[in-house]
Amino acid sequence: MKSPTVHELRTTFLQFFEERGHRRIPSSSLVPHGDPTLLFTTAGMVQFKPYFMGLEAPPARRMTSVQKCFRTTDIESVGDESHLTFFEMLGNFSIGEYFKPEAVEWAWAFLTGLLEIPPERLWATVYIDDEETFALWRARGLPPERILRYTAEQGNFWGPPGDSGPCGPCSELHYDFGPRPGCDPCARGACHPDVGCGRFLEIWNLVFMSLYQDADGARAPLPARNVDTGAGLERVAWVLQGARSVYETDELRGVLARVEQVSGRRYDPDGAPEVARAQRAIVDHARAIALLVADGVLPGNEGRGYVLRRVLRRAVYCGHTIGLREPFLERVIDAAIDAAVRWYAAVGEQRAFILRTAAQEESRFQSTLARGLELLEQVIEHEATGHGVRRITGREMFALYDTHGLPPELTREVAAARGYGVDDAGFEAEMAAQRARSSGEAATGSADGERERRHAALGAESEFVGYEATEARSTVIALLDASSERASRLAAGTEGALVLAATAFYPEGGGQVGDRGEIVTPSGRFRVDDTQRHGEAIVHLGAVVEGAIALGEAAESRVDPERRALTASNHTATHLLHAALRQLLGSHVRQAGSYVGPDRLRFDYTHPQAPTAEELRAIHRLVNARIRDDIARETLELPYEQAIERGAIAFFEDRYAPQVRMVEYCGSRGHGHEHSASHPAQHAGACFSRELCGGTHLHSTGQAGSLQIVSDSSIGAGLRRIEAVTGPAAEHYVEERLEIVGDLARRFKVPVEQLPARVAALEEQLAQERARLAASERRASADLATELWSRGAEEIAGVQLVVAHVAVASVEALRSLADRIRQNLGSAVVVLGAEIDGRPQLLVAATDDVVKRGVRADELVRIAAKEIGGSGGGRPQLAQAGGRDASRLDAALDAARAAARERLAGA
Ligand code: ALA
Repeated sequence: MKSPTVHELRTTFLQFFEERGHRRIPSSSLVPHGDPTLLFTTAGMVQFKPYFMGLEAPPARRMTSVQKCFRTTDIESVGDESHLTFFEMLGNFSIGEYFKPEAVEWAWAFLTGLLEIPPERLWATVYIDDEETFALWRARGLPPERILRYTAEQGNFWGPPGDSGPCGPCSELHYDFGPRPGCDPCARGACHPDVGCGRFLEIWNLVFMSLYQDADGARAPLPARNVDTGAGLERVAWVLQGARSVYETDELRGVLARVEQVSGRRYDPDGAPEVARAQRAIVDHARAIALLVADGVLPGNEGRGYVLRRVLRRAVYCGHTIGLREPFLERVIDAAIDAAVRWYAAVGEQRAFILRTAAQEESRFQSTLARGLELLEQVIEHEATGHGVRRITGREMFALYDTHGLPPELTREVAAARGYGVDDAGFEAEMAAQRARSSGEAATGSADGERERRHAALGAESEFVGYEATEARSTVIALLDASSERASRLAAGTEGALVLAATAFYPEGGGQVGDRGEIVTPSGRFRVDDTQRHGEAIVHLGAVVEGAIALGEAAESRVDPERRALTASNHTATHLLHAALRQLLGSHVRQAGSYVGPDRLRFDYTHPQAPTAEELRAIHRLVNARIRDDIARETLELPYEQAIERGAIAFFEDRYAPQVRMVEYCGSRGHGHEHSASHPAQHAGACFSRELCGGTHLHSTGQAGSLQIVSDSSIGAGLRRIEAVTGPAAEHYVEERLEIVGDLARRFKVPVEQLPARVAALEEQLAQERARLAASERRASADLATELWSRGAEEIAGVQLVVAHVAVASVEALRSLADRIRQNLGSAVVVLGAEIDGRPQLLVAATDDVVKRGVRADELVRIAAKEIGGSGGGRPQLAQAGGRDASRLDAALDAARAAARERLAGA
């Protein structure tokens, strides 16, 4: 096959393995489903981890996929010819079925047979002691000198992804481009792919996944020997298209062209290698941003959000290095979306949202980047002239990060380019100190994780039979005591967990809470407080409240029907709300999380700004209109691909299953579509709500009664949260508010409709009263001032001295009084004392000419303040003091008078 496009390569690969009995599995989200050990999907095998570990049954034992992947481990290399943060991995997988011979044979056949890569261009590596794989490559015709034995350090042991998980020795295939300028390791006698100057390119990794590694690094065999392979799609395309780098393959070339346009500089890897490097990095980062946001990752300060933020900031920085000072990312991301939509159509639907999210984040960072870089430059210069240790301190890194948003990785990269190191440990210490300042560390929940793992490892499988019924008969197939150890009997009063072969209890999932209720056996009664799915087992958590429960007993599960019905109402309303948001705000709206309980629902969704009051009203109305339409539910089991084709909305983190459950509310009043999956044509039309969902729902929307939106708020950049209630809770919500309004109407003695006017009138009245009061205070103060200066002034050396104990309500009033007196007396010292809110206050004012003669208000006030046990200060013209002992106020005034007389006389 000569020079296939990236798109052709994807389909060719999948077909090749389908012909060899593999089931095609769609790419999972970049956000791994229910996997706390990983932030991102970093390899094709991530979605298959539970199958490798024997925790869940795979949809097929042979599978193949083109998986979206995102890794930042090599981010500092991104911009060279071969590294990417976002890339696609072609993979074939065996879950305990075929092993090394088939994996080697098919990889060889695909590359040299179908793709016609000349065999003499290929090299293989095998794990140091893997004789079998060595022999397998030999048998394909590879000469022994092109089969190298590599250690784990050289890359031939793969995994686990994250702290723990499946792993195993691997065998890699490398492509030899031949000698390149400045890179001819073979001529130097070091002819092997590990040399890393660009002559060789790793294109496919075959992992013989047979071990599990725990968080402490201990390894144990997996239940079976598996195969996990990964070939870099863009790398294979690079080889076949005769390009010069992954960035010049057909899909990325368009994005690179856009970068040339926005930077106004031709891509010229020979003439301007540094510019080309920055241009390539921007291409990669722009595409990664598009795909991450499309999968629900939003810029933030921790976890995934922070990684995205770092990538975006690195892109802006790269732009900065080639002279881009205005926002440019949006235009590049737009081109990246154009390239992605052919295979990932959903990314196109989110275009406006992605662009807006990135643009907001970019402009925010651009405004601080220049200043941050300038400071970093200063730090570097300072270090250079200082003690000569070429290292940026942790504190400096922290300051650059905390106030200028320079991610530590970027500081490190910029510093390294200048020959400087950084103090990572010092930076971490600063971060830890800041965390400790702002709050306690978040709980890790590892105890729950441990319990979950133990339950999953039971190997018990339960069937959920509770969609239509809340009661079911079955058998107890596993019992666990309070410390999650297997038990054969649970006595009265003991807490523990119980697993049935089949149960009516819904295990928490898809945002919906786990059911509660009871399980009754001939010998006892078990109260169920929560239900969880761990692996293939549905685990009822609770306590034995009567008699005892024994393994193997017949058991009847009885779900609390009322709680279930209320939960179903909120779950159905969640779907209606989701559909209404998409219809009214735009199809970029995606569910980012939810809580569905018997009491209320919470729906987190992506949208860049707050919906207006009108928009919220329209959403509220639309949902309630659909509730009144009483649309009947239709639930279908169908292949995942078909469901997506029909426009069903899948959650970001949805996990692939060959058959999925699709819940839809399509029809109109009184009944849904009377049809089944065997008449798919009838499903093609528009439908108000159609979602992949495993939850329990109402038979028809009317059962929800009504929905009331309680709040809409922002929970992060581009992320919002609606809280709402339905059914009786909605009634209660409205009643409560009506009561408050009724109560107010009674108190204000007007009909409800006239309340706003009445409140407005009262506000107006209050404002008038306040104005009147202020005017009268001003008048009183003027009168008092006149009285004080006309009667109370004493003249000393041509200066009027007024000392008075007055009755005013505030320090403000005291000050304005002093001002008035001062204005009326050309040359004066005014000392006022008042008791305000039970505390003595003093104020001293002196005119400028007096100050010039050396008599200062601040000095006088300090002398007086001593008498009332207080302190004070101010300017020479105006000073003020407060104290504790109001009974000493007159003594304080006397002290001030004496001091003033003495000073004026002496001046
Ligand atoms: N999981 C293997 C890798 O990522 C194939 O290289």
